[in-house]
Amino acid sequence: MLVRNVFENDFIAIGDRARDWGDIVIERETIYHLMTKHFRQTCFVAEDRQRMIGYLLGFRSQACPDEAYMHLVQVDPAMRGNGIGRRMFRQFEDAVRAMGCKKIVTTSRPQNRLAVAFYRRMGLKPVQAGGTIEVDGVTAIKDYNGPGKHVVVWAKDL
Ligand SMILES: CC(C)(COP(=O)(O)OP(=O)(O)OC[C@H]1O[C@@H](n2cnc3c(N)ncnc32)[C@H](O)[C@@H]1OP(=O)(O)O)[C@@H](O)C(=O)NCCC(=O)NCCS
Repeated sequence: MLVRNVFENDFIAIGDRARDWGDIVIERETIYHLMTKHFRQTCFVAEDRQRMIGYLLGFRSQACPDEAYMHLVQVDPAMRGNGIGRRMFRQFEDAVRAMGCKKIVTTSRPQNRLAVAFYRRMGLKPVQAGGTIEVDGVTAIKDYNGPGKHVVVWAKDL
């Protein structure tokens, strides 16, 4: 297995895989494309014999240059539980640390059990600030994405 930085044209395969693999928010093509074009240094794909088996898309925040935001991470369902997500996260972590970032942040729905387990294991913790609410045993920020849309904001200091 190889984990490498994306090329711009990977956005097509990433969009196709996102739709095929499920368990994730599907973006418009434009979002995948702007990530692979403008954030190449912090976006990765995992490949097995040149077949894409995972991707991780993130970027360094402009508003908070000390922070990197991990937007999406997804692994082929047939390949999960084999350390592919961990490998991509470690490469993202190394890339943003080298840029000078001091923190990784991301968000998830509290109901996303795979994301909750994975982020916890990667050392991220739910942010406790602001109005919080417990959902399925996880601390979420109340109404973070609008009324009733509670979101877990995860953070890890580097
Ligand atoms: C989350 C996801 C990317 C993890 O990828 P993965 O390659 O299966 O993860 P890894 O094999 O690297 O697992 C790393 C750790 O995460 C945890 N983990 C992963 N899958 C888990 C599961 N099904 N149940 C419990 N813990 C799990 C484990 O602690 C694991 O470490 P361990 O094997 O030492 O116990 C994958 O499950 C996925 O694609 N989910 C759907 C998309 C999604 O929800 N993405 C996150 C929001 S954008």
